[in-house]
Amino acid sequence: MVASPSTARQTTDLTLAPARQRVFSGMQPSGNMHLGNYLGAIRNWVRQQDQYENVFCIVDLHVLSQPIAPRTLRQNTIGLASVMLAAGIDPGRSVLFVQSDVREHAELSWMLNAVTQFGELNRMTQFKDKSAGKKDEAVSAVLFSYPVLQAADIILYDTDLVPVGEDQKQHIELARDIAERFNARYGETFVVPKPDIKAEGARIMALDDPSKKMSKSDARPNAAIALEDDIDTIRRKIKRAVTDSGGEVRLAPDKPAVSNLITIYGLLSGDSVAEIEARYAGRGYGDFKADLAEVVVGAIGPIQARLADLHANPEHVRAILADGADRARAIAAAKMGVVRERMGLGAG
Ligand code: TYM
Repeated sequence: MVASPSTARQTTDLTLAPARQRVFSGMQPSGNMHLGNYLGAIRNWVRQQDQYENVFCIVDLHVLSQPIAPRTLRQNTIGLASVMLAAGIDPGRSVLFVQSDVREHAELSWMLNAVTQFGELNRMTQFKDKSAGKKDEAVSAVLFSYPVLQAADIILYDTDLVPVGEDQKQHIELARDIAERFNARYGETFVVPKPDIKAEGARIMALDDPSKKMSKSDARPNAAIALEDDIDTIRRKIKRAVTDSGGEVRLAPDKPAVSNLITIYGLLSGDSVAEIEARYAGRGYGDFKADLAEVVVGAIGPIQARLADLHANPEHVRAILADGADRARAIAAAKMGVVRERMGLGAG
């Protein structure tokens, strides 16, 4: 009998409430998590925890697309888990685990390579950006096949929704295409996931250049606010943030820098754009930026306080990840059994 994907979901992990839609999302442990990661992703994961069944993954295999020292990778993994927990991911309501602790991700990725086309991967904007100007020897095959692993991450868990920032949209669309193609070729096996990209905060821009998104890989010192920046650094970076010509605090397409700052202010304070514009009417950028700095510090400060406790207790974080991996593995192993069968792999 061909089990429907939703039946598979309901029987794989009884600790999760079966009636809810499943959310899956991931983040790379590449260090320097910033305000864009928080507003575009983590904050939404935290806020939606009660609404969905949640699976959150620290995608360490994806980080191998660039050379990284093993010690650094391990530290970053525990560091990112600590940030997620400090930001409010609750292991009682969400599965939190490390990708490489569940071998099925790498295994499914190989199988999905069989239903992915070279041209599709070659068209991925992130691949084009990250490989641009580099010699062939400097571009790893991991960078090229990266979106296939991402598709495996997502569809392994019969995911309904993938909450991400705007930059991941193309990868989620490819995951949909891969799931549909697999289902068409081998029979209904995977739920086809949908991206969950919010209208606000899905693309936080660099503070020093509103034409570029805030990014972990940016070497420019005032481009991003890191979640672990100290209070003085946050204040200084916001003070130095570029603004637009004309002094008004107004959200408008011709005011990309100020619009980005208003978006950050609004998301972190809960105030509407209209309230913010009215509050600073006739007051100029100085007052606005000074208050924005306090809004950011007020939001990040409590996360940093919890983070300090977690940094002091990495064994506690490891225990949460080990438990998360066990729960994730139960779902992933059942799904891989179906995939192997469908594809005729193994001795049977
Ligand atoms: P990563 O680690 O680069 O980013 C993690 C999340 O942060 C979002 N984000 C932003 N949101 C708003 N403004 C920004 N400036 C900004 N910068 C980053 C990203 O959109 C993302 O949601 N390939 C993924 C990791 C991944 C994944 C997955 C995600 C691997 N497997 C499965 C979802 C599902 C990545 O590199 O994200």
